[in-house]
Amino acid sequence: MAETPRREDNGHEGHPFAQMITIGVVAAVIGTAITLLMSWFPTNAAGSAGKIDTLYDVLLIVSVPIFVLVMTVAIYSVWRFRARPGDMSDGAPIHGNTRLEIIWVTIPFLLVTGLAIYGWITLNDIEAKQPDELVVNVTGQQFTWTFEYPAQKVKSPELVLPVDRPVHFKVHTKDVIHSFWVPQFRLKSDAVPGVTTRIRVKPDRVGNYEVVCAELCGIGHATMRNRVRVLPKTGFDAWIAKQRGGGAAGGGGGGAPSGKQLFTANGCDSCHTLADAGATGNVGPKLDDIAAAAAKFGKARHESARNYVRESIVDPRAFTVPGFPKNVMPTTFGKDLSKRQIDALVGYLLRVGGGKG
Ligand code: CUA
Repeated sequence: MAETPRREDNGHEGHPFAQMITIGVVAAVIGTAITLLMSWFPTNAAGSAGKIDTLYDVLLIVSVPIFVLVMTVAIYSVWRFRARPGDMSDGAPIHGNTRLEIIWVTIPFLLVTGLAIYGWITLNDIEAKQPDELVVNVTGQQFTWTFEYPAQKVKSPELVLPVDRPVHFKVHTKDVIHSFWVPQFRLKSDAVPGVTTRIRVKPDRVGNYEVVCAELCGIGHATMRNRVRVLPKTGFDAWIAKQRGGGAAGGGGGGAPSGKQLFTANGCDSCHTLADAGATGNVGPKLDDIAAAAAKFGKARHESARNYVRESIVDPRAFTVPGFPKNVMPTTFGKDLSKRQIDALVGYLLRVGGGKG
């Protein structure tokens, strides 16, 4: 092959290095400014959120310029040193550059080590045990959350917290892996079968937020959201008192369990539509006309409408309404609910699910 001189040796004025670095630095400054101007997070509603936002800004300031600089140099080189049409010659042989290699290993090593130490200090700070913690047991299941306040003996489908009091969440799951996340608190923790994971948060802003499941957990993952209310201390105490008096979670209160409360407390509303309970889920069948469906499918299965509905709750794998995915409805309700509670739920569903007629 004929030896043709390389293009860069062949009549280009000056060294392109300064020009390349100048373009790279300008692009890096612009890129960093844009990312810092972006609003990455929702309202900040917990003491730790400020530290996490600062950490995120530091990560942006360190990583964005490097990314933009490297990409600019790469794109510049591809464009500036491209081969002319018909130039089939090899590049000049390069043996390496020890000084450059030491520099590009040492700088990232120092950066990553520094960031790891900073992150560790911040996490340690956020996770420190605090006095007067409110303990809340969080349980994920397909596709809802329940919250239990062991000291107050209250269970609720809604997460209600007093403002300015540290909360210690103990996170569990009944089935698959979920992830407990309130974006306004920033912290997130996976709910892992057989394991209790923990996070500590001190909400410092009264308001309404949402728990989001942040781990793909099945067909209803996107609807796995529950309300969070942060209240002043007096409002929280009043809420606890009301829960204990009313047995709103369908717990062991004295009176007959309310089917409607059981329906929402057990998360049925996150997958099913039922106008009477204000539920709009669409993972499972609509229940507004469950009486007619129970008559029809029950007859085919030689069981009464009542038994059909009961079976659908305690043994949902036995029969799936055509057109709906199998193996989605949790099988835990037969264990979690008492016979009285299941009776109340079945009666309620047949009463309000009588269709339009
Ligand atoms: Cu639970 Cu996604």
